[in-house]
Amino acid sequence: MKRIVIANWKMNPQTADEAISLFRGIKKSASSATKVKTIICCPFVYIPNLARHAKGTKMSIGAQDVFWETSGSYTGEISTLMLKNIGVSFVILGHSERRALGETNEDIRKKVHSAAAENMQVILCVGERERDDHGEYLSFIREEVESALSGLQADLLEKIIVAYEPIWAIGKTDDDALSPSGMHEMSLYIRKLIAQLYDRDIADKVSIVYGGSAEPNNVQLLLDGGDIDGFLVGHASLETDDFGKILQVVNNCK
Ligand code: PGA
Repeated sequence: MKRIVIANWKMNPQTADEAISLFRGIKKSASSATKVKTIICCPFVYIPNLARHAKGTKMSIGAQDVFWETSGSYTGEISTLMLKNIGVSFVILGHSERRALGETNEDIRKKVHSAAAENMQVILCVGERERDDHGEYLSFIREEVESALSGLQADLLEKIIVAYEPIWAIGKTDDDALSPSGMHEMSLYIRKLIAQLYDRDIADKVSIVYGGSAEPNNVQLLLDGGDIDGFLVGHASLETDDFGKILQVVNNCK
């Protein structure tokens, strides 16, 4: 398996000093988790500083969004090239919190395609708001996956990490996370969707991570039974101890 742990700091912390001390705390655990690719997705304003601190380590800095155009009159937007120029190689796209602010499947499709084409590693988030008994949520996931990926050149699929994040599990406690068997089922389903768009070989190679209250207490079970390559971690990534424990579990898993 590949081992990936992504921190999604969201709109935290509030000062540059706090960002640096959080990063330093994580760096210690990340340096002993030698088998894990650790990616810190912080707010844009902290990226240049943290990218400097990440030099010479195995950690990478990621962004939480990027625009699809390369330059021009797009007030407030940031391009992939700008990010690459300051040392960013990963970007979260389609997070449910951005979708809730109005981002559409079509916006996400454009962002995924342009970022991947410009050689950025894309962490594509998908996840349903709620689960129903009739499997409607599966059609919802299908639409998110297909709209983001269809038409993407096959050789760019290696740039994609799919983060399955059921919205109902985000920002809760370890008990509220998806069950390992639920994750296993979803991994199979996401791979099936990608295999239908491309082929089985490509689908098998795509990394899939889980997000939604991933915490020190549930990551081992999810790794053992969930058929995943790692985690996208929100609130626990703001606690150096918790995040360190998660890195350790992922590092030690077989
Ligand atoms: P959480 O957030 O770990 O706090 O549930 C995950 C996310 O929203 O990416």
